[in-house]
Amino acid sequence: MAYKRSIIVTGGAGFIGSHVVRLFVEKYPDYRIINVDKLTYAGNLANLKDIEDRPNYRFVKADICDFDAMLALMQEEQVDGVIHLAAESHVDRSIKDPFTFAKTNVLGTLSLLQAARLYWESLPEKYEGKRFYHISTDEVYGALEMTRPEGVEPPFSTKASSGSHHLAYGEEFFREDSKYQPHSPYSAAKASSDHFVRAFHDTYGMPVIVTNCSNNYGPYQFPEKLIPLFINNIRHRKPLPVYGRGENVRDWLYVEDHARAIDLIFHEGRVAETYNIGGFNEWKNIDLIRVLIATVDRLLGRLEGADEDLITYVADRAGHDLRYAIDSSKLQRELGWEPSLQFEEGIEKTVRWYLDHQDWLDNVTSGDYQKYYETMYTGR
Ligand code: NAD
Ligand code: TYD
Repeated sequence: MAYKRSIIVTGGAGFIGSHVVRLFVEKYPDYRIINVDKLTYAGNLANLKDIEDRPNYRFVKADICDFDAMLALMQEEQVDGVIHLAAESHVDRSIKDPFTFAKTNVLGTLSLLQAARLYWESLPEKYEGKRFYHISTDEVYGALEMTRPEGVEPPFSTKASSGSHHLAYGEEFFREDSKYQPHSPYSAAKASSDHFVRAFHDTYGMPVIVTNCSNNYGPYQFPEKLIPLFINNIRHRKPLPVYGRGENVRDWLYVEDHARAIDLIFHEGRVAETYNIGGFNEWKNIDLIRVLIATVDRLLGRLEGADEDLITYVADRAGHDLRYAIDSSKLQRELGWEPSLQFEEGIEKTVRWYLDHQDWLDNVTSGDYQKYYETMYTGR
């Protein structure tokens, strides 16, 4: 069958990528979706079991740093779109091993950009109808202060510039024109990759789009990140390592809402633009952890809150960003996107999913991850 579009999704075996691949494969049977993933510790084909036999889906095990392989694949599949998610994504790992982050996130992105450029520039129509969509993070903007008006206890309700309601710990938000101030090797590498993507537009005229999203949560997230790690630990009554005093604030978005935004922006976003994507949903870590404990306890038939004694304050993360908060009013205004799930609903769905998928957790936490985890917390 002749497909209407041929799209490479990188990192499709990871957390967000698997939701994006599933959405595109199911929603667009007339698109060919090629999932390119190296299958690091974070990539797992079990995340895509339900769609792996679809005729419009192909998996290719490859490293995005392999420029020759990327160019050959683009030529073979006559690719007209790239949705780039492959990355090393965990801040704690970046503190231990910054080189891997520079290699995959910076050089890997450059290798993809250069492959797309050489392939698209070789065609008679050049960049016409093409799109390179780079998925990035709000962490490139650094950290925000916690401020609040006199006499109001946080979280207070404020208004983003769109006028929408926002549960916030401060009056400042990351906007598309906020200064880049990355603090961790992870965010520094993502920031660098964002600059390369924009440089390919400014220098070669490549039709690029960049989006910067807040913290995602939901099914298939590797259990080294806060929410799945803690759900699993509460279930097994293992200690919950809270960094510092648990005062840091993150803006949480349900992963399927991010995938929906990616679909919308890939199709309707303006070329060379940046869009911020956020949940309008800020939580202090310690408050979020208490919600997780109460939810797991309730769903397992334990006394609600009984597992709060698992909370264990440990040394803070080096360079720990205090607060992230996204103003996604540009995306709301231009494309009409907004989060569809209330946080309570999203957390309930997420906790249920992890409790129902112990086999998935056991599978992904065997082997290499165990070794890493042991060294990570030794001495704490
Ligand atoms: P993840 O770690 O779950 O998945 C990353 C995927 O990339 C894995 O499948 C891995 O195998 C693959 N990969 C890693 N190195 C590769 C390489 N060299 N070649 C090919 N594949 C490789 O990450 P995630 O949380 O799904 O994040 C996806 C993207 O979204 C990243 O670019 C990340 O920076 C960005 N992002 C994530 C969040 C979040 O909260 N998770 C928020 C905003 C932006
Ligand atoms: P994480 O899920 O690693 O995402 P990010 O660092 O990209 O925001 O962490 C979310 C927050 O939870 C962050 O403030 C660090 C904190 N955290 C802990 O307190 N303990 C943990 O074991 C982890 C993984 C994170």
